[in-house]
Amino acid sequence: MIVTIDGPAGAGKSTVAKLLAARLGFEYLDTGAMYRAVAWAALQAGIDLANPEELANFARNLDITVHRGQVFVDGKEVGEPLRTPEVTQASRYAADNDAVRAHLVTLQRRYAAGRNVVTEGRDQGSLVFPEAEVKFFLTASPEERARRRLREYERAGHQVPSFEEVLQELNARDQRDASRPWGRLVKPPGAIEVATDGLSVEQVVNHLEAVVRAAIAEKSKRGEIAAERCGQASSGTTG
Ligand code: DC
Repeated sequence: MIVTIDGPAGAGKSTVAKLLAARLGFEYLDTGAMYRAVAWAALQAGIDLANPEELANFARNLDITVHRGQVFVDGKEVGEPLRTPEVTQASRYAADNDAVRAHLVTLQRRYAAGRNVVTEGRDQGSLVFPEAEVKFFLTASPEERARRRLREYERAGHQVPSFEEVLQELNARDQRDASRPWGRLVKPPGAIEVATDGLSVEQVVNHLEAVVRAAIAEKSKRGEIAAERCGQASSGTTG
């Protein structure tokens, strides 16, 4: 079963997706971390990120794997360095590069094959897993998202920019995420929109969990009905 959570930067997707996956016993896939990993590794290797071919070749040859919600490059967990403001800025080169996107989409689908997954990003319900059983679109006002980002930077011990700087950066990211020709941020058809302003993480996760559990119950009911029909059909033909 695939559950997708898409939405703009700072809407709380990662926190919510991780907790939801844990409650359901599903795997968690943080696709933003994959774009960040490409940017982080390219910065380390001195690659010209603004050169699309150079970055695409580099990304295709990069050993990126995902295990228990963490991204590994060359077999090593990257962790916190993916969250620095420098990598956040640079990740747009990976996100705007169609060849890098195509490669990461392949890795995402391969990872999800045969697994129960809660996956989060910008294009998960629209492009990567259009057939997902449950799709969410998480939003929050730009001001609320900027406040959350600032708290994240503080907690991680990074140099903290001003509120206005973070808000400006978020607005610029929203625009870039929404105007990308391929894999842009849209509310996927059939997605349930959840506006998280004024809601606690617990409240959001409770709501999402209830929706997914209802979908699981519905799915198993359909499975039982199908099995019954199958039984009737076979007893009809053999009897
Ligand atoms: O969600 P995030 O801030 O960790 O995302 C990092 C970057 O990757 C950001 O520039 C948006 C981009 N991204 C994307 O284009 N598609 C995704 N599915 C996930 C993230």
